[in-house]
Amino acid sequence: MRPVQRELIEWWSREGRDLPWRRSRDPWAVLVSELMLQQTQVSRVTERYVRFLERFPTVVECAAAPVGDVIDEWAGLGYNRRAVHLHRTAVRCVEHHDGALPDTLTELLDLPGVGPYTARAVLVFAHERDIGLVDTNAGRFVARALAGRPLPAKEAQAVADAAVPGGWGWTWGQAVFDLGASVCRKRAPRCGDCPIRLHCAWATAGFRTPDPIDGSAGISARQSRFDGSDRQGRGRLVDAMRAGPVEHDALAAVMGWPDDQARAARVAAGLVADGLAVVERDRYRLP
Ligand code: ADE
Repeated sequence: MRPVQRELIEWWSREGRDLPWRRSRDPWAVLVSELMLQQTQVSRVTERYVRFLERFPTVVECAAAPVGDVIDEWAGLGYNRRAVHLHRTAVRCVEHHDGALPDTLTELLDLPGVGPYTARAVLVFAHERDIGLVDTNAGRFVARALAGRPLPAKEAQAVADAAVPGGWGWTWGQAVFDLGASVCRKRAPRCGDCPIRLHCAWATAGFRTPDPIDGSAGISARQSRFDGSDRQGRGRLVDAMRAGPVEHDALAAVMGWPDDQARAARVAAGLVADGLAVVERDRYRLP
């Protein structure tokens, strides 16, 4: 191993987090955890991941349930569309892959809601392949430590792939996430405590400004304001439907826009189009 690889892995063996999804190599469990971890904090996911898998332990059991049950179980995780994607993926795997997740990049990328990062995460964390990962957290490590400059997506992936120590893809991937969470943070990185600071491209270039994460691939922009957003209204309607059907006339009140029936109707139609709601006799309910 190269020194940077050995030092990060040694650090991880001391400082790595014990997270529930790290105890499984089941591709379904890995996919569930990865979809939950997109846009939702680790602490929140930790509480919910085990419960979700108790209710939907396998692809086949998830596919057999109504999608509304999966949306119901997604309560509190936000971005409910991920629940619909997960269910559609389960159904697709039953129909086309004998009830299991496929294990090639091309086939994984073909699944609903599975993008370049998530497909690779399944290969790395379930099948222990030596592939680099670039999401908003791992992308900081790639841009700062490996490149020292902002990278377009393709290059970021190539740089990440080249950094993986042979045979250590799983451990390396988890170590990069933990470094990103506790040391290589977005704001105020703790470079003084970094186990690989002597090898970090950005540090050895004297922390040249701007920060290499600015404008780099995979690094998400700040989430837009939630209060007053369509997303807030969508979330409120899905929460209400978890308790039971909602009358068309109640939409505006439920969504928090009592004086804007037109907006409520438009946003509710979006939920129907996304597969998160169905309308029956002027009532909205989970599908
Ligand atoms: N974010 C995405 N995947 C993760 C993992 N396996 N551990 C911690 N954070 C993550």
